[in-house]
Amino acid sequence: MNIERNVLLPKSGAPGAPGHPGRLSRREFLGAGILGLAACGGIPAGIAAEPLPAINANSPQFPKDFAWGVATAATQIEGAAAEDGKGESIWDRFAAEPGRVVGGDTPAVACDHYHRYPQDIRLMGELGIRNYRMSIAWPRIYPQGDGPVNTKGLDFYDRLIDALLAGGITPFATMFHWDLPQALEDRGGWRVRATPEAFAVYADTIVKKLGDRVRNWMSCNEIPCFIGKGYGKGDHAPGCKEPPKVLNQCYHHALLAHGHAVRAVRQHGAAGARVGLVHNPDTIVPVTETPDDIEAAHRQYGWESGPIMGPVFKGAYPAAWLERAGQAQPEIAPGDMALISMPTDFLGLNIYGGHFCRAGKGSQPESLPLPDDYPRGTLPWLNITPQTMYWGVRHAAEHYGVKNFYISENGVCQDDVVTPKGEVLDIGRLEFYRNYLGCLHRAIHEGFNVQGFFAWSFMDNYEWAEGYAKRFGIVHIDYPTQKRTPKLSAGWYAKVIREGAMV
Ligand code: NOJ
Repeated sequence: MNIERNVLLPKSGAPGAPGHPGRLSRREFLGAGILGLAACGGIPAGIAAEPLPAINANSPQFPKDFAWGVATAATQIEGAAAEDGKGESIWDRFAAEPGRVVGGDTPAVACDHYHRYPQDIRLMGELGIRNYRMSIAWPRIYPQGDGPVNTKGLDFYDRLIDALLAGGITPFATMFHWDLPQALEDRGGWRVRATPEAFAVYADTIVKKLGDRVRNWMSCNEIPCFIGKGYGKGDHAPGCKEPPKVLNQCYHHALLAHGHAVRAVRQHGAAGARVGLVHNPDTIVPVTETPDDIEAAHRQYGWESGPIMGPVFKGAYPAAWLERAGQAQPEIAPGDMALISMPTDFLGLNIYGGHFCRAGKGSQPESLPLPDDYPRGTLPWLNITPQTMYWGVRHAAEHYGVKNFYISENGVCQDDVVTPKGEVLDIGRLEFYRNYLGCLHRAIHEGFNVQGFFAWSFMDNYEWAEGYAKRFGIVHIDYPTQKRTPKLSAGWYAKVIREGAMV
């Protein structure tokens, strides 16, 4: 999901430390394949007498304990939108409004995962998937956002977590993936402080109930999207266009919710429980890996990431941003910044498309527009930029001292078709993953501690305002029949997981 540029982005500011140009080793170069130019070859007939090793010895190898996984989110897959006492979410309401979602699609049924989760977990097991990032729907737990708990909602996640663990799959639970209870929106939504306060109670409840089994928690997913698009641009639920001061307050309240998630895990989580933010900072790629362009990309990343990563990792909004915001600065209550910047255990990065930058006039960062025919997914913002895997990690480590990472999402939407033989030959997606993972391997090889990778998504699902037409899954969903068909990319990913290396 792209990051909307909005009033939070400063025009000038943070100084940047010069980066060190990284180099690909021969081994990485052979395995990485930039923009689909992966090395390929064959064994001439009559030569291959020895059995081939399972993988090419030159293939990038990932750490033995690397957590390979897949990701989804409640609204996008569960369906059962009004079942077992679930309250209305802002996405249920938004989707019901004419003209908001492509094709008028709603999340009412989605992948029917609420009823089919045993089958989905079985399929994960068959593919060798051992880590699953899912989200908990706040309106299932608190139908009105606060007030009485809906025990049937909690029971669903109880069953889901138990089934995952029984299948040998480790859950990574996201607390908030955009489904704000509509009742809270009716009382001001993220504009008002009562919302992060209600979130605090919700976070306490789910950690107390599920924390004996869930050890990996993710706080809020992509604050720039659910605030920037929901309250700034208005193309996501709740579909509002607020002035800068209100918008900045919404961001601040979302940051407070993140802080409460961390606090709840520290207070109520089991020993060894871990928690981190899932974020999608705009990843700036230096167009050449020369000191000048790297320095320019570093500075631009600093300006753009500062308003969210500054509070979380440095305990303060950037001074230059506050100055620029002027009267539109958010109200900050005593104790807020300490809560927002409570130490976390990892940063989850959602990596899709990025932007290129070079040192322009006077060495100032200059963004480079992408040509119309630049390779993209079937959504215009999804520029295929495998290097974002490397630079996303490196910028966050160099700017904010982040030590541990997960790639909490990565994937691409394609126009998948089922062949007459019943296959989905999504070679474009497979190559996308090969290229991005090659660049991730480079980051790991250079010493950045990336602990896992979650493919977005396990299955095709409700792509928010784009409805069901955009497919991101490695498993195909035939919505009328709910048939699941693993795509070619799923088979490939299963082998990567099995070998711990690119295949
Ligand atoms: C990021 C979001 O977290 C996810 O919900 C969305 O489907 C993907 N981007 C693709 O747009």
